[in-house]
Order: sequence, then C-alpha cells, then structure tokens
Amino acid sequence: MSDSVQIKINGNQISVTPLTVVATALANEGITRFRRSVTGKPRAPLCGMGVCFECRVTINGQQNVRSCQVLCEDGMEIVTDD
Ligand code: FES
Repeated sequence: MSDSVQIKINGNQISVTPLTVVATALANEGITRFRRSVTGKPRAPLCGMGVCFECRVTINGQQNVRSCQVLCEDGMEIVTDD
C-alpha cells in the first residue's frame, strides 16, 4: 500500500494518508461548508455516520455523495459548494 493518496479538492491537489475519509480530508483542509441547503444556508457534517446527509459533496462528477462514507482514492476529484 502506498503511503499517500493524491486527491483534488475544488481543483487543489493534496496528499492524504491511506484510509482517510473524504469528510476528514475536507475538514483537514479547513473546509467548513460542504454544501448549501435549499434556502442557501451552509451545511457541514453532523453525524459522521451516514444518517444526516449534511456532508454531501460531488465526487468524480457524482453529486450528493455522503463524504463521511467514502474513503479517499488516488485521483479522486471532490467538489464542495464552498
Ligand atoms: S455527516 Fe451525516 S451523513 Fe455524513
């Protein structure tokens, strides 16, 4: 297993350790607004276990993916509504 995983967050290339959860990678980069509610309010992870759906982001073009449920993979592109 490689000792690092290369991902892009909002176009910025970063390196994370293997088995890093996407939500953790985003938080470690200082991102506090993962998406917006239908009324435009900022949203970020709440439960961390796949229940609240507040952590949804776009991963590799797929919208509304719960970032707390996905491990970072090499080449992954993550987009938040930041
Ligand atoms: S933080 Fe609640 S579903 Fe991801």
